[in-house]
Amino acid sequence: MASSFKVLVTEPIPESALKPLYDVADVTIGKRGQFSTEEALIDEIEPYHGIVSVLSNPLSDRVMEAAPNLKVIGNMAVGYNNIDTNTAEKRSIVVGNTPDVLTESTADLSVGLVISVVRKMKQAEFDLRDDKFDGWEPTGWMGMELNGAKLGIVGMGRIGQAFARRMKSFGVKIGYHNRSPLSVDVEKKLAASYYENLSDLLRTSDIISFHCPLTDATRHLLNRDNIKLLKSSAYVINTSRGPVIEEEALAEALHRGDISGAGIDVFEEEPSVHPRLLTAPNTVLLPHIGSATVTTRTKMAELAVDVVVQTLSGHKEELNNRVV
Ligand code: DGY
Repeated sequence: MASSFKVLVTEPIPESALKPLYDVADVTIGKRGQFSTEEALIDEIEPYHGIVSVLSNPLSDRVMEAAPNLKVIGNMAVGYNNIDTNTAEKRSIVVGNTPDVLTESTADLSVGLVISVVRKMKQAEFDLRDDKFDGWEPTGWMGMELNGAKLGIVGMGRIGQAFARRMKSFGVKIGYHNRSPLSVDVEKKLAASYYENLSDLLRTSDIISFHCPLTDATRHLLNRDNIKLLKSSAYVINTSRGPVIEEEALAEALHRGDISGAGIDVFEEEPSVHPRLLTAPNTVLLPHIGSATVTTRTKMAELAVDVVVQTLSGHKEELNNRVV
């Protein structure tokens, strides 16, 4: 029997997560990248009661206006800066995200970026492939020792804390900036000290790593002005959201040698990457893969689907902390 609900999954997601959706709705799956503009969504969205979206789908007020039947959005991401949540609330559209399940994989990737940039791994490998390895070299490819280095973490939510837990075992000294300090107990466990003032953290860190959500307050948190506070030996890591850093200012600082390197997984205008960043020295650039493990992406898909299934089946109360 045909279902009375229609759900749009904006692009292919891990297949195994889809089954519960087929039990409650007629499901349409978009093509990769098909719904990355408002226009594309506006053209197609009218019949749908639910959407399983990804962070490249701009679910703006205009899009929601074109969706008179829409009851629920399950966003396959922890961040939901692609959704106009005020409009959703006004229109009583449930919005769910996928917290927790990507914490560990994103923290892992942040550690990977730290080690690859501070130890110049990319350049060292290029040189080896370029036949520049002529045996162990006493002064070759020297990077920064993590033991004893000062790590500044900006944003101490779930992912920031998971990153801190890992980095503590490398012997770094951890400072962090957050809207508010952690409890004394958690600070003690992480051996982390609170910096109310971001500038103080920037001035004193050897590595500065961003883990905050994108909001009006965090847009260009690292910018043309305060990037000057960083030491010339400092490294910048970003696995949060691209616009948290003014990308052009970062690229210029790298080219001038005002900082020593960067490991970046997220960009201001994804999928574009600032051309000056592409040519910047000692910079590892990744295509937004913080959560890209089979386990995490499958769980994310399951959670996003579940928000839609539970809402359309009238079991919204099952959703707990997954409704934003
Ligand atoms: C998120 O969930 O917000 C991530 O950036 C996706 O990997």
